[in-house]
Amino acid sequence: MLKVGVVGVGGISGAHIPAWEEIKEVELVALCDIRQERLDQYPKKRHYNDFKEMLEKEDLDILDICLPTYLHADYAIMAMEKGINVICEKPISLKEEDVERVYSTAKKNNVKFMIAQVLRFWPEYELLKEIFDTEKYGKLLSGTMTRLGCYPKWSWDGWMMDEKRSGLTPFDLHIHDLDFMVYAFGAPKKVAHQYRSKRPDQDFISVTYDFGDFSINSEASWYATSYPFTAEFRFQFEDALVSNENGKMQIFLRDGKIDLSAEAEGDTGDINLPKSDAYANEIKYFLDCVMNDKDVEKVKSDELLSVLKILNSL
Ligand SMILES: NC(=O)c1ccc[n+]([C@@H]2O[C@H](COP(=O)([O-])OP(=O)(O)OC[C@H]3O[C@@H](n4cnc5c(N)ncnc54)[C@H](O)[C@@H]3O)[C@@H](O)[C@H]2O)c1
Repeated sequence: MLKVGVVGVGGISGAHIPAWEEIKEVELVALCDIRQERLDQYPKKRHYNDFKEMLEKEDLDILDICLPTYLHADYAIMAMEKGINVICEKPISLKEEDVERVYSTAKKNNVKFMIAQVLRFWPEYELLKEIFDTEKYGKLLSGTMTRLGCYPKWSWDGWMMDEKRSGLTPFDLHIHDLDFMVYAFGAPKKVAHQYRSKRPDQDFISVTYDFGDFSINSEASWYATSYPFTAEFRFQFEDALVSNENGKMQIFLRDGKIDLSAEAEGDTGDINLPKSDAYANEIKYFLDCVMNDKDVEKVKSDELLSVLKILNSL
């Protein structure tokens, strides 16, 4: 049975911890957070307020990092130097040089490392990539991706609202859509247009990426108002419009009908999408790489580096 630890028991750990608990091949043995009250929610686990102490006392096979962004690279390196496989929340870092630093540490210590770019494991986005790859509805003509919410006042110590620690909306929100674009369509040829409205209590960014044959416009925002979190896309192919809006994935064909025939494995929803939890999917994928000594093919270091380069150029 592989032993797992999680460091950073804040907001997103609430998606990771239950996913680990569901997997029979592993035991989630230890949690670390500087705030004891966060650990107290899980009385059956061993608790640490100091990360180095957890590394010394526990014999972990896998560490799951759910810490604030600015700690990801250093904490991943500390764990991998001890021979622990690491899955880490996005982004890998705000700094491009950290990609090489982290991946060379993984290689040197012969451990697996993966950044949990969750859209790569999200059924709606996986289906979109499949439609693009197979040209089932012809070539892609244009795309629109949005990721909107309100200012993240809830984060520990206000770290998300601090540009040096989080990178604000480009690195926290927009990165999801840009990472998916680079994964699914390759790196864009250029940034065709960008607009940013950044204020002390709100941050909006709009970027249009030129891929040569098509362009994709993307918006990300932390609004000052109580706007509900919304993540949507609309992709125009020659013969269909593929839409993931208003909580539904739909494929609009020329005759106006919604295509219900898209094929995917597993339990099926309205358009045969697997009803799965993308956070559990990414964790299971990483575990499979660790248990069966497979390369972490699905999240490559050069793609992460391309994304950081683009974000730092905006
Ligand atoms: N994939 C997604 O959909 C998604 C969603 C939200 C957040 N995230 C990413 O997850 C990461 C965490 O975000 P969050 O929303 O959970 O933040 P958060 O502020 O809610 O949680 C961070 C936790 O880390 C703890 N912490 C801080 N410093 C520590 C240290 N030195 N040692 C141990 N614990 C420490 C804090 O007490 C807090 O509980 C970020 O990098 C963010 O970008 C990803």
